[in-house]
Amino acid sequence: MRILSGIQPSGRLHLGNYFGMMKPAIDLQEEGETYLFIANYHALTSFRDAEALRQGTRDVALDFLACGLDPEKTVFFRQSDVPEVTELTWLLSMVTPMGLLERCHSFKDKTARGFPATHALFSYPVLMAADILAYQSTLVPVGQDQKQHVEVTRDIAVKFNNLCGQDIFTIPESSIRTNVAVVPGIDGQKMSKSYDNTIELFAEPKAARKQMMRIVTDSKGLEDAKDPDTCNVYALYRLFATEEAQAEMAQRYRDGGYGYGDAKKALHEAFLEVFEPLREKRAALEKDAAYVDGVLDAGAKKARALATETLGNARTALGLD
Ligand code: ADP
Ligand code: TRP
Repeated sequence: MRILSGIQPSGRLHLGNYFGMMKPAIDLQEEGETYLFIANYHALTSFRDAEALRQGTRDVALDFLACGLDPEKTVFFRQSDVPEVTELTWLLSMVTPMGLLERCHSFKDKTARGFPATHALFSYPVLMAADILAYQSTLVPVGQDQKQHVEVTRDIAVKFNNLCGQDIFTIPESSIRTNVAVVPGIDGQKMSKSYDNTIELFAEPKAARKQMMRIVTDSKGLEDAKDPDTCNVYALYRLFATEEAQAEMAQRYRDGGYGYGDAKKALHEAFLEVFEPLREKRAALEKDAAYVDGVLDAGAKKARALATETLGNARTALGLD
C-alpha cells in the first residue's frame, strides 16, 4: 500500500485540517509507505506573495513534524521540488474532458468567493491527479471536500491507461475518516480558514480558549436538558475524548444542570492535553531550520526518483522518448 496526501501552505492549520487530514495521514504512516507533500504549486492558485508562500511552507513543515510525522517512515517534501509533476499534468490534460473539470465544486466555490477565474484554478484537479499518479499511490487520505478530486484522478488514470493500452498508473482510492468527515467551525459551518471560524492547532492557550468561548450554541439555560447530537461544542469534544469521556459528557447534557460554559471548559482542557506538548515540540523544531530543511531535501530526492520513473513510462508510452 502506498499512501499519499498533500496540503496547501496557505494559512494557519486548524482542527479541521488536523482531524480531517493530518492525523489520518500521520496515523497511516504505521500501515504503509507514506508520501506527504506541501502543495506549494497549488497554493499559487490563491496567493502571490513570495515571502508569505515561503513562510507558509516552513510553517506547514513544522506543524507536521510537531504533530508526529516521522521522516523515517514518511517521505515528506515540497511539491515544487518535484517539477516532473508539472510535465505529467500536461500529459494528463490530454485525456481530461473539459466537462469533468467543469463539474468540480472547488472551482465554482472559489470563483464565487472572488478568486480570479484563472486557468490554473480551473485545471487544479489535473495537477492534483499528477501528484497522486506520479507516485503510484494506492490510498489518498483527505477530507470530504477533496473526495471529488480523487474521483477525477481515477477517471483520468483509467483514460490514460486505456489510451496507452497498458497500466502506466495505479488507480487510487480516497480514504475518509467517516466520523470526522467534516469538522464544524465555531459557527457550526465547516471549519475553514476562509470562513474565519477556526480553532488553530498551535494557538496560545488563551487565544484557543477565547475561540472556544465563541462557539455557537442554542440558548438553553444551565438547568435545561440538552441534546449533545446537535451541539457544536460536543461535536468538537468528541474528536479529542475517549468513548467513555464522550458518553459521560453526553449524559451530563441529557441530565441538565450542565451548561455550555462547562462543556467549553472541558473542551479546552482536552485540547491543551493534546496540543500543549506538540506546541513545545514545534517551538524546539523552529530553532532547528537545518534539520527541517534536511528532512524536506531528503524527501524530495526519494519522491523525485519515483516521479521521474513514472513520467518516463508515460513519455515512452506516448512516443515522447
Ligand atoms: P481550508 O478549508 O481551511 O482552506 P484546506 O482546503 O486547505 O482547508 O484543506 C486541507 C485539508 O484539510 C484537506 O484534506 C481538507 O479536506 C481537510 N479539511 C479542511 N477543513 C476540514 C474540515 N472542517 N473538516 C474535515 N477536513 C477538513
Ligand atoms: N488539493 C488539496 C487541498 O487543497 C491539496 C493537494 C494537492 C492534495 N495535491 C494533492 C491532496 C494530492 C491529496 C493528494 O487540500
